Amino acid sequence: MKKLFTALLALSIGLGGFAQEKEHSCPTSDLKSPDGTQIHRCKHSGIIKTKVPQRPDGQTDLVGFRTAPMDSVRVGFIGLGMRGPDAVRRFGLIDRTSVKAICDKYQDRVDKTQKKLLSTGRPAADEYVGEEAWKQLCERPDIDLVYIATDWVNHVPMALYAMEHGKHVALEVPAAMNLEECWQLVDTAEKTKRHCMMLENCVYDFFELTTLNMAQKGLFGDILHVEGSYIHNLEDFWKHYEGNWRLDFNEKNRGDVYATHGMGPAAQLINLHRGNKMNYIVSMDSRPLTGPKHVKNILGRDSSDFKNGDHTMSMIQTENGQTMHIQHDVMNPRPYSRMYQLTGTDGFANKYMKEGYSFRDASIIEGVPDHEDLNAHTFVPDDVKEALMEKYKHPIQAEIEEVAKKVGGHGGMDYIMDYRLVYCLLNGLPLDQDVYDAAEWSAIGELSRISIENNSAPVEVPDFTRGAWKKLNGYHHYMKGE
Ligand SMILES: NC(=O)c1ccc[n+]([C@@H]2O[C@H](COP(=O)([O-])OP(=O)(O)OC[C@H]3O[C@@H](n4cnc5c(N)ncnc54)[C@H](O)[C@@H]3O)[C@@H](O)[C@H]2O)c1
Repeated sequence: MKKLFTALLALSIGLGGFAQEKEHSCPTSDLKSPDGTQIHRCKHSGIIKTKVPQRPDGQTDLVGFRTAPMDSVRVGFIGLGMRGPDAVRRFGLIDRTSVKAICDKYQDRVDKTQKKLLSTGRPAADEYVGEEAWKQLCERPDIDLVYIATDWVNHVPMALYAMEHGKHVALEVPAAMNLEECWQLVDTAEKTKRHCMMLENCVYDFFELTTLNMAQKGLFGDILHVEGSYIHNLEDFWKHYEGNWRLDFNEKNRGDVYATHGMGPAAQLINLHRGNKMNYIVSMDSRPLTGPKHVKNILGRDSSDFKNGDHTMSMIQTENGQTMHIQHDVMNPRPYSRMYQLTGTDGFANKYMKEGYSFRDASIIEGVPDHEDLNAHTFVPDDVKEALMEKYKHPIQAEIEEVAKKVGGHGGMDYIMDYRLVYCLLNGLPLDQDVYDAAEWSAIGELSRISIENNSAPVEVPDFTRGAWKKLNGYHHYMKGE
């Protein structure tokens, strides 16, 4: 199957190259400016296309998908390394949930997690230990949700098995590591009619949530450009990943292998697959210089063919005429940054290195102090920013901010993520992140690799909804009763 997929991919890449040679015409785009005038721009030609498998007969899309409301959410956790145990603790603190089972390859990791669960006042969970024990956990009839926080290559096989056994799935970032896996998640979720949510926590950061609310209220005008990144020097972490899985994956794979923290918040601002879609991506990377040094330091051997460039950047064009810029550097000494930036026709927002907003017209923010002194060339003063953030606090944040800060997990955003997952399941609502988000944000990994390996050629971003991206009009967090 994998071989066939690779062959088809190679064929479609070849055809893309052919099209690039032959196509000289300039078909007009169907872009329109906000006042309805036609914008004349050439649609891109010569694009590399990857295979979009046909939706099997009898299967329908899951855009806006909901399942019946539930009385409680019964959860099983797989993967109890650096990330998993705290998720178990957080669930121990969310009402109407029960932690039924926990699983890892190693008993000591299960023991440590069991203690964390008991500290929340909940009863002990059943334990599954060993390489294949997760299958028994997925087979239990008394579990509604399987929560996966293992190394990357285990995500999809576990998620597919869980969905095939009737479970909803929540899986850590990135959900999938290549296009074939992205399509497997989409097809299996559609076939089994189960939720498959990637646990992208950065969309729940307070600044991102507030800014999304401001954007949805029109403060920035029409959004033209968004940025996101994962710039995090992992020097102190590499040797702690179980079995060296993370450095190993970076050594073997080129492209932006960890794009979702940057992609998620940017994607929600521009309504991806809720009336918009990514059309194509162009990527470039630097030499890998620090990566091989880590292999030498940690494993004591040379790495003559380390694939992942120290710095990777991608540019994406959307159907509605916006640009996205996504970056990745986990190797070098830079301050942590997820970038998070947006440029609109009326305003600008930026999270790293300095959080701030600026606006063309101060009247848009009337009601906050000193608004008449603002100008479009600088950030608004801090007191204005604070007042704005208070005024436009996202309703979700307003609801659970206090508890989220107390429970913690990346400053509270991990708790908000788990809380919202449970809230939507309990109330039978569409989840904040669906299987298409998981596929679109994870697909940047292989799509950027293909572009890089073809001299930064444009690569079409497949429409994982297979035509359903226009069904909804804008990104929305569903609330009880909707
Ligand atoms: N969203 C975030 O902010 C965030 C932060 C850190 C990590 N992560 C993600 O969380 C995941 C885990 O990362 P980590 O740092 O905890 O890695 P880790 O190496 O510390 O933990 C992985 C765990 O999975 C277990 N595991 C592997 N194969 C298994 C199997 N067959 N059965 C049961 N358990 C198995 C390992 O024994 C280990 O305990 C990754 O996907 C990572 O990208 C996300």
